Amino acid sequence: MKLLSQLFIIGIGLSLFSCTQRTEEDRFIDNLMDKMTLEEKLGQLNLLVGGDIVSGTTKDQGSDSLFISGKVGGVFNVKGVEAVSRLQHLAVEHGPHGIPLLIGADVVHGYETVFPIPLALSCSWDTTAIENMARISAIEATADGVNWNYSPMVDICRDPRWGRIAEGSGEDPWLGSVIAKAYVRGYQGNNMKSDSTMMACVKHFALYGAAEGGRDYNTVDMSLQRMFNYYLPPYKAAVEAGCASLMTSFNLINGMHATADKWLIEDVLRKQWGFEGMTVTDFNSIPEISTFGITEKENAAALALKAGSDMDMVSGLYIKTLKDAIQRGEADEALVDKACRRVLQAKMRLGLFENPYKYCRPERLDRDMYTDAHRATAREIAAETFVLLKNDNSLLPLAKKGKIALIGPLANAGNNMCGCWSGYCRAEKHESLLQAFKNAVGNKAEIIYAPGSNIYYDETTQRNAAGMRQLERGDDNAMHREALNAAAKADIIVAAMGESADMSGESASRAELTIPDTQRELLRKLAATGKPVVLLLFTGRPLVLDWENDNIPTILNVWFGGSEAAGAIADVVFGEKNPCGKLTTTFPRSVGQIPLYYNHLMSSHPDPQDGVFNRYCSNYIDMSNEPLYPFGFGLSYTSFEYGTAEIKNNEIRVDIKNNGTVAGTEIVQLYIRDKVARIARPVKELKSYRHVSLNPGETKQISFTITPDMLGYYDAQLDYICEPGVFEIMVGPNSRDLQYLEFSLTE
Ligand code: BGC
Repeated sequence: MKLLSQLFIIGIGLSLFSCTQRTEEDRFIDNLMDKMTLEEKLGQLNLLVGGDIVSGTTKDQGSDSLFISGKVGGVFNVKGVEAVSRLQHLAVEHGPHGIPLLIGADVVHGYETVFPIPLALSCSWDTTAIENMARISAIEATADGVNWNYSPMVDICRDPRWGRIAEGSGEDPWLGSVIAKAYVRGYQGNNMKSDSTMMACVKHFALYGAAEGGRDYNTVDMSLQRMFNYYLPPYKAAVEAGCASLMTSFNLINGMHATADKWLIEDVLRKQWGFEGMTVTDFNSIPEISTFGITEKENAAALALKAGSDMDMVSGLYIKTLKDAIQRGEADEALVDKACRRVLQAKMRLGLFENPYKYCRPERLDRDMYTDAHRATAREIAAETFVLLKNDNSLLPLAKKGKIALIGPLANAGNNMCGCWSGYCRAEKHESLLQAFKNAVGNKAEIIYAPGSNIYYDETTQRNAAGMRQLERGDDNAMHREALNAAAKADIIVAAMGESADMSGESASRAELTIPDTQRELLRKLAATGKPVVLLLFTGRPLVLDWENDNIPTILNVWFGGSEAAGAIADVVFGEKNPCGKLTTTFPRSVGQIPLYYNHLMSSHPDPQDGVFNRYCSNYIDMSNEPLYPFGFGLSYTSFEYGTAEIKNNEIRVDIKNNGTVAGTEIVQLYIRDKVARIARPVKELKSYRHVSLNPGETKQISFTITPDMLGYYDAQLDYICEPGVFEIMVGPNSRDLQYLEFSLTE
């Protein structure tokens, strides 16, 4: 006891000491801030967007005089070392105190080398691959002048109508957390002062993925238990991994705009989680506080500042209104100081004061951009993200022989391989599937190509959906006929269909989740030929595939696989690679089942799940409760047999055998349920997983150890607790097909 109290006193002593001790960097910032005027401090909180700045003209926001007079703390969407150097030069050589700029960008899944969309990346369950992709993204983006990246996006989403589900890691908080950490490690490395690492920015804080009805920018209203147990963990994980900045979200949270939510930013993020980095609002969020009717426009900036939003993205309201608000006594100058300090600290952590031009070395472009090595890694990773949803009679992989009809609007669309947030890619360089198939088969097989259909029958709908990457249109009837002729000549049909690249991502909510009309109609006609059909599904979200599941023998979900996707798809289709991706979001049977997620709570009158309809259960009279493809699901070209799982103390062991004729990788999953707790707990929660690679006939034993962090949760008072009692332990290949064991936690 004595020792303990001594330690306690030493502990207090140390923390008092560390509170008062100023580092050299603190002193540098103290000195700098002593010299800065209020306007100049507000300037550091002002974040501008490129556009005019990119072209070097001096209109509107991008006026040179703003940089020279110290009214800008950072810019984003400025492309290229030359443009970045020019602005950095204005700020550093001509600005009041030579303060360098933050240069932001949305490098969400690669820069010029583009990797699969984040939702797809999460389906690899491969945090090493994700960290590697983030590392390569950092190398390329920093070679082009970027020092601040608006990624990772960690919003948990249980509603695939929301287009931004494509940008996150799916529906699971635990998997989302380990992936969030991998992104941060990859972007920031161990040393943000290096010239090939950049500052990460976790977003969108918070709960943006829970927008009502899956409609982008819509309201979020959520219980605290749901928030803390299921939606907040990935943001917290990013903070724990040292993420140096954070972006607030567009949405309301229980009636308060996230950007003006002091409880969220100051109490939860800073006080509870110990976040010491800087925050930034999302695009033009500050005036939107008043759009929601929370305050008058002239007070919105003061409210955001008070809540802890440090940097104002684009609106300009901090710089335009805060000085007056301070004079009126409605805003606190000390808060401007705090925010300004955090922005300067971020610049310091990046090493920008030591060398503002460290990201502006044109010679890096040739060495580091879109290199063969980066592209090879992107191709490898892309193949890991594909999910084989169905493969009757082992139709895939295809032999390189005979005649293969490659049909569909996405078959020859090199510009549609990358998906959302791929603005820095060079789409003109990307191989299309048609080219990749021809390269793969050489003269061993014939590829007969037909575009088959438009994306949608209706031109306006297609135009709205296609966004930046429009596809040439033709007459659907004629295209369907041409496709059927191609099919008639072939031994097998490969249909490349689904969503076009910009049908998911920001502001791309959908009310219907089927493959769009004309494509689905064509698919029906192709299936009716009686020839075997492989569906290569392009999509940025789970789709409703009930008809396809009943009528198409093989479905390989290839998402949007990035700049090297075409080669990666060919690798998998022709068997160079064996697919091993597993879904990180539930695929519903119908939009009416949404929200549908695996880690749900028990309902009153639970569905007996014995297949017999019971009216007074929590079910639908016209559809099962079951998803079409559950969370964690994904097939392989081989099959894996699970032995009987055993538990001894806190150790679970299970044998996995490759029962097929090709080597493959299985992702073995561990789920836990707290059977009795103070508040209702989910029917299962993912707590661990292992990749196991097996040659044909090979068996390996996998083991898991149950640790206290797998058993805890936030109770009704938001205390994180771990209660003694019985836990159900589940092991298996996905969240549905599980073996059940029990584990008891004693006091
Ligand atoms: C998006 C953010 C993005 C920002 C800057 C916003 O519209 O919501 O995710 O980082 O724009 O491009």
